[in-house]
Amino acid sequence: MDIFNKIDNTFGPLGQYMDDAHGYYMFPKLEGPISNKMMFMGKERLVWSLNNYLGLGNHPEVRKADAEATKDWGLAYPMGARMMSGQTKYHEELEAKLAEFVSKEAAYLLNYGYQGMVSIINALVDRRDVIVYDSEAHACIIDGMRLHFGKRFVYPHNNMQNLEKELERATKIVEKTGGGILVITEGVYGMAGDLGKLKDIVDLKKKFKFRLLVDDAHGFGTMGKTGAGTGEHFGVQDEIDVYFATFAKSMAGIGGFVASNKKVVKYLMYNLRSQVYAKSLPMPMVIGSMKRLEMLKNEPEHREKLWTIVNALQRGLREKGFNLGNTESPVTPVFFEGGVPEATSVTHDLREKFNIFCSIVSYPVVPKGVIMLRLIPTAMHTLEDVEYTIKCFSEVKKKLDDGEYSSDKIKSMYVE
Ligand SMILES: Cc1ncc(COP(=O)(O)O)c(C=O)c1O
Repeated sequence: MDIFNKIDNTFGPLGQYMDDAHGYYMFPKLEGPISNKMMFMGKERLVWSLNNYLGLGNHPEVRKADAEATKDWGLAYPMGARMMSGQTKYHEELEAKLAEFVSKEAAYLLNYGYQGMVSIINALVDRRDVIVYDSEAHACIIDGMRLHFGKRFVYPHNNMQNLEKELERATKIVEKTGGGILVITEGVYGMAGDLGKLKDIVDLKKKFKFRLLVDDAHGFGTMGKTGAGTGEHFGVQDEIDVYFATFAKSMAGIGGFVASNKKVVKYLMYNLRSQVYAKSLPMPMVIGSMKRLEMLKNEPEHREKLWTIVNALQRGLREKGFNLGNTESPVTPVFFEGGVPEATSVTHDLREKFNIFCSIVSYPVVPKGVIMLRLIPTAMHTLEDVEYTIKCFSEVKKKLDDGEYSSDKIKSMYVE
């Protein structure tokens, strides 16, 4: 059989919706400068779907730093992987600054968060080891585990009793194999905004022997007194053995980093396959990230503005009776009852009638019968944006409750 034959039958779990969704719900084109308002299909929309938490994405100083670094260095330098020929003192300088900021001895840059995480997991464990992870772990964690030859046990999302049970199972196994246990959680769960129970997980270290890896993609820059992340927020940063964050969210860039003690970072430098066998981050991303980090550290007003918007939005929606689940972070999920047809028509109505652009999540990411709209507040938003959005959401909710988004109406609502 030709391996392409299967494509005749299915385009995959997401691709199966492409005929109806492509260009609108999936692969939409948001145009114009990154901001709270952007163009979508020729009209200005209020955008709540960018992880530009601190509003640095289009900040004039960031743009200037990016442009100057590009002018000075171009996009090619340095050539090759860090290990071979792509090392610079600037990469090392950024790493030292990141390590200091997240209170770790050392840090190492990653070209992409996703690939970096896959390689971190791959490098840390061998077939004797057991991974214990949260059921809502991001795809990069799942893919890292796919490379693992040993056992892996999942615990239901944030369920500490189950985590304890899995740790008991894992402990029995590693006693036989001579391996160790790696627990993986996220700091902030990016879909529903709830936090990984870092304090409880760390407490389990008193009872079990394991190392903790935290993916803090959404926590870095948004959580904690200084923005150093969810570990700082809970006061357990020292107990996180391996801390990971991406530059794709608060830092509004590309790349990421991993931080730990000196010995672990040195080991990772020589064993992260996504870095050993891939080109070094180009200089504008390194210099540009340095600028972003400086602003994130020294200009708390960006985080304060973010939280003003977050608090106003979440308080306002809750006061109107919306179910925001258990979010404790800027990520703002709004849960409704309904299936995929209702979900698409609610989103369509928000976009076309109210010019509000937000992301939609339905089954299988959330349980059947649940629709989740996800709003990402940023420092770019205004309190007027918040007020307008709450008003529009209330109108949409009323229509949904009145059954106005019935499935037979939906086809006619799609944009051709
Ligand atoms: C929780 C989490 N981990 C990792 C990543 C991957 O990061 P990157 O975009 O830098 O590849 C993301 C998404 O961007 C994420 O949400």
